[in-house]
Amino acid sequence: MGHKFDPKNAARLDDPARLDYQHPETVLGLLQPCAGETIVDYGAGVGFMTLPLAAALPRGRVVAVDVSAELLDVLRARVEAWRSGPPAGGPTHMPESAATRDAAERVEIVHTTDNCVPLPDGAADAVLTVNLWHEIYDERPALDEIARLLAPQGRLVIVDWAKVERPVGPPAEYVLTVDETLVVVESLGLSVAIVHQPGALFPYHYAIVARGQG
Ligand SMILES: C[S@@+](CC[C@H](N)C(=O)[O-])C[C@H]1O[C@@H](n2cnc3c(N)ncnc32)[C@H](O)[C@@H]1O
Repeated sequence: MGHKFDPKNAARLDDPARLDYQHPETVLGLLQPCAGETIVDYGAGVGFMTLPLAAALPRGRVVAVDVSAELLDVLRARVEAWRSGPPAGGPTHMPESAATRDAAERVEIVHTTDNCVPLPDGAADAVLTVNLWHEIYDERPALDEIARLLAPQGRLVIVDWAKVERPVGPPAEYVLTVDETLVVVESLGLSVAIVHQPGALFPYHYAIVARGQG
């Protein structure tokens, strides 16, 4: 069973040190959001990636999905705060442009405990999963839901902890090798387009971009 994140550790998700080793801009460079798209941030947590993604998406929407109501409450409060402009002293990674007020309008929050996201099949131009894959690699309903949501040729972006020596993140025995992740991705009928080994884009993470069927 994948090792699940404990919501009590929510503060770790906002650790400014992440900017040194897993910067949202680098993740967005992989995802390449385009105007008007629907992008699902699966396992969004408190939204470390969600608002930067929404700010990088002129028009369209970001659907932030999570199993934890507690973490989504933090994200919801954050989105509400951003509707009235960037709050002073907010998390350091949040974009500070005027676009953020609009960006908050583009975030939808979905709480699901059973991997049911109320969107039609193929509704997502892209699905982003950051630090999630090691939690769901053996949770078939989660994997199937991600595959269901992906549009034909839609992008699935996986950025997850690598099995390398590192000072942060879950123990190495809880995470997958790149090859193990590729087996799971291919079992969903997705085609692998890009693989970044640990150390290529991120020191402690690997990154994979796959394409939906069709
Ligand atoms: C390590 S956190 C990463 C959060 C966020 N992506 C980030 O980069 O800060 C993993 C998140 O995935 C969520 N999660 C795990 N399994 C899930 C599932 N089956 N459906 C939705 N969310 C899930 C957890 O509640 C947690 O918020």
